[in-house]
Amino acid sequence: MKRFLLFAVVAVFISPAFAGAGESGTEILKNRCASCHDLKGPAPQTIRQLWKRDAPDLFYAGNKFRREWLVAWLQKPVRIRPAGVNYLRNINSTPPENQKTKSGRKFDVLYGKVLKPLKHATLNKAEAMAVTDALMELKPHYDLVANVKLDTTKKVTLDQGEVLIDKVYGCQSCHQIEPGYGGYTGAELYTAGRRLQPEYMLSYIKRPRSWDPKIWMPNGHVKPADLQKIVNYLILLSKEDFDASN
Ligand code: HEC
Ligand code: HEC
Repeated sequence: MKRFLLFAVVAVFISPAFAGAGESGTEILKNRCASCHDLKGPAPQTIRQLWKRDAPDLFYAGNKFRREWLVAWLQKPVRIRPAGVNYLRNINSTPPENQKTKSGRKFDVLYGKVLKPLKHATLNKAEAMAVTDALMELKPHYDLVANVKLDTTKKVTLDQGEVLIDKVYGCQSCHQIEPGYGGYTGAELYTAGRRLQPEYMLSYIKRPRSWDPKIWMPNGHVKPADLQKIVNYLILLSKEDFDASN
């Protein structure tokens, strides 16, 4: 009996869920991440499904993220969506007078005070690299980026980019371009250039709903040349030294 018990205890510890450092990237995703994140797709097809989503979809991570960013963020996660994934629970889209961009557009604000710092699973370096390898394999949306290319000749200054994002297309009513400056609906855009592949940004900004059919971001009918300028701007902006501790 004693011998059987010992065997049972050893068997539990060497099973994949308890393998600790021995877990592969795919196993970590299954064991520690899949309870919150969708790793299989498709994206929510109805509004009801959308509001049940409490964590961003990761099933097209390989089409979306920059590898270096993933490795670093998984070891030190910080908030990306200033009002959380379910932003409608936390924002007020008819804000008081003083919440305005330079051009006078209003942006949505948080109800009450700013959300607490993000609490998220943290991985060590080896785990972060293994998980990143596994995530970068997930590329079901290759079709959406296959013919998309960044035109690096369409350069803009930070000021010119801000005019596009604020005045021309109104992106800033939903997105921040500095910590605390801009709306609270979408993901912050001041680290987007470090976080996201240029082809993903070009494709997503052009037709957000081809990635996420029920997402609130409208198709802004951005002109092709402006689309290139906006993405070049976001890459330039992400080189600024922002405090990433929000
Ligand atoms: C308790 C739920 C939960 C678990 C478990 C969890 N996450 Fe998350 N994760 C979140 C939430 C919520 C966010 C959104 C954070 C934000 O936008 O500020 C997030 C964001 C992310 C992002 C950025 C996604 C994007 O589109 O911006 C990545 C990558 C990620 N998680 C990977 C992982 C990995 C890998 C694991 C497992 C080791 C994991 N998460 C476990 C809830 C979770
Ligand atoms: C009505 C609000 C709204 C407006 C206006 C808007 N967006 Fe968005 N945007 C969103 C939401 C919501 C998301 C999805 C965030 C998420 O994945 O949780 C998003 C996602 C994005 C993403 C992908 C971010 C990521 O981490 O996956 C980019 C890039 C982006 N928006 C850029 C823009 C640009 C550029 C404009 C202007 C042309 C714009 N947005 C206008 C709400 C908006």
